[in-house]
This record gives sequence, structure tokens and C-alpha cells, in this order.
Amino acid sequence: MPPTFDARTAAQTLAFGPMAFQAARVLRDAGVLAYARERADEGFDRAEARDRSGLSDHALAVLLDAGTSIGLLSLDRGRYRLAPVGLFVLKDEMTRVNMDFVHDVCFLGAHRLETSLQEGRPAGLEAFGPSRTVYEALAELPPHVRKSWFRFDHYYSDSVFPEVLPLVLESRPRRLLDCGGNTGRWAALVLQADPDVWVTLLDHPGQLANAREELQALGLGDRLSTAPIDFLDSDAALPRGYDLLWMSQFLDCFAEDEIVSILTRARAAMDDAARLFVLETFWDRQRQPTAAYVLAMTSIYFATIANGNSRMYHASDLIRCVERAGLRVEREVDGLGLGHTLLVLAR
Ligand SMILES: C[S@@+](CC[C@H](N)C(=O)[O-])C[C@H]1O[C@@H](n2cnc3c(N)ncnc32)[C@H](O)[C@@H]1O
Repeated sequence: MPPTFDARTAAQTLAFGPMAFQAARVLRDAGVLAYARERADEGFDRAEARDRSGLSDHALAVLLDAGTSIGLLSLDRGRYRLAPVGLFVLKDEMTRVNMDFVHDVCFLGAHRLETSLQEGRPAGLEAFGPSRTVYEALAELPPHVRKSWFRFDHYYSDSVFPEVLPLVLESRPRRLLDCGGNTGRWAALVLQADPDVWVTLLDHPGQLANAREELQALGLGDRLSTAPIDFLDSDAALPRGYDLLWMSQFLDCFAEDEIVSILTRARAAMDDAARLFVLETFWDRQRQPTAAYVLAMTSIYFATIANGNSRMYHASDLIRCVERAGLRVEREVDGLGLGHTLLVLAR
């Protein structure tokens, strides 16, 4: 069959998107794509795939037709081979991380998108039980869901942390306040890079317990302190006395008015010499359409699973919040990591 990509095909790709997604994932997880890679030269037929995978003939008939139609496999004179999209699904780390995140964290709840948007709450999160936000539920989510959530979160931050570290340490901060410090990966990098820095993590208690355990195991517990906070509580003040405040992939977890409240409290905790470093991926600062697509779909996750009221912002949205909170942008660095922007804010 000749490959086709036209508006009709694109529309059908969407109409059957969830089916195609699951078929692709099963082809990957059942080892069919890996087998296709192994047999790159000679290809394979259905009987060979059946012997190899242990799947039934019916299962393979269904999956191989789907895989060929989706473009994961090519079919020539009865023999299947791995096609370029199949190679990405099999080997590309970003595709794997996003696919597992969509399957484990988002898929069930995505059915509730409409309700979530109408009611401004993450109705899809009910798939895992009653919680106000995914962050409150994180420590108690089923292990496979937690694993995929953390891999998704870490994949994007790990890509940028080493690159941004020298920019943060250049002003020789001594006391750093990590807002939304999560599992402490950033804190660990900072503490390892500079023996004179002390870090305080602010987050939900479940995340802080994990972070403390991780950093103690690395022998970094002495210069770490943790303080539980609910940033959604507009009366929860941020501690003073820090020369650098850090918010990485954090403000996108909140609606604009909540961001203004958090930034206003950050400003109240800063003296004139203190700086607030904000690291975000802005939809409108991406060089590649693929990256903008990933961010737009991540906003759908925020709507239906994470909190019901935030999204991946445009840079101007966040800068408006910064100004409303009485802060100013002193420096902007685009093009970091996988499309991150660093904003350095001052009073
Ligand atoms: C998307 S993660 C980012 C983690 C890390 N800073 C990074 O760059 O990888 C957001 C973090 O903010 C925390 N967080 C979100 N809402 C919060 C709230 N209302 N109160 C306290 N922490 C919150 C979450 O628990 C999570 O650790």
C-alpha cells in the first residue's frame, strides 16, 4: 500500500487516536517492534512473529494490520519490517517517556476532560481516588503510575539541570530555597557542585520525605533542610533569608492568580540582593513544532489530571504575573535543555 498522509487520514488518525496509541504501545511492550529491528534485513512474517512473541495468531493479525496502518511497520510481499515511526516508538527516549506517561497517568482520566474543563477541577484524577491535585496524591499513587509520572518529570528536568547549573552558581549563592523541590534532584546537583551552599526544599510532606531519603543516601543530608508547605494557601509565607530562590517547572502547576499569589509571597521573602530563578518551557518559545505539540498536550494533562486550572504558559502570560507581583525580569535565557527558558527575577 502506498503511504498516504492527507487531511482525511489525519482526521481518522485523530478519530481512532486512542486505539492506535494502545496498539502501538502493545506492539512495543510485547516485543514485536524489537523483533522487527532484529530482523531489519530479512523481515518477518506473521508465523515467525507468533513463534517469537507468544502472542496468538489472532492477536498478531490485529496488531500487525494496525501497526502497518499506523506506519510503525512496512509490509512487502508478506514480510514486515520496522518503519521509521516504529523505530522512534521503540528507541526514542522522549517518545517512550511520553507514551508511558500518557498510558499510566493520563489515559483513564482523559475521558473526563470535558467535565474537568467545565468545572475547573481535575475530574480525571478520580481514576486514582479523591484528591484536589495530583501533587497531593503523588506519594500514594500506584507504583507504576508514580514511576511514569517521575520519569516524565525527570526526563525534562534532567535535560536542562546540568546546563543551567553554572548560570545559577555564577553569583555564588550560599542559601538556596528550592520551591517545589520534588525528589531533590536539583538540590543534589547544587550541593554536589558547591560545598558552601545550603539548600532548603519546600514541597508537600510526601515529596519531602522522599527527597530527604534520596539526599541522605548520597551523603548530602547535612546541608539540606526541608519545610512542608501548601503553596495554594495564600497565607503560607515563604521563609526569609535566602539569596537565591528557585522555581523549576513549578509555576506551570498553578493558575495565573495562584502564580501571582506565590510570586507576591516570594517577593516578600526577598531582600534587594536576592534573585528568583524561574525555569519553564514556554509554548511560544519553542524552536520545533514537535516541542510545542508536546507542551500543548501536557496542558491537557494539567486540565484533566494535575489540577484542572493550569497549563504550559506563553512567556508573556508568566511575565504578566511577574509584573503583577511587583517583580521585574532582569535576565532571560532561551534555548536551554529541551526548549527551556530561564527568567532571573529581582524586586
Ligand atoms: C512538576 S514538579 C517539578 C519538580 C522539580 N522542581 C523539577 O524541576 O523537576 C512540581 C513540584 O511542585 C510541587 N507542588 C505542586 N503544587 C504544590 C503545592 N500546592 N504545595 C506544595 N508543593 C507543590 C509538587 O509536589 C512537585 O514536587
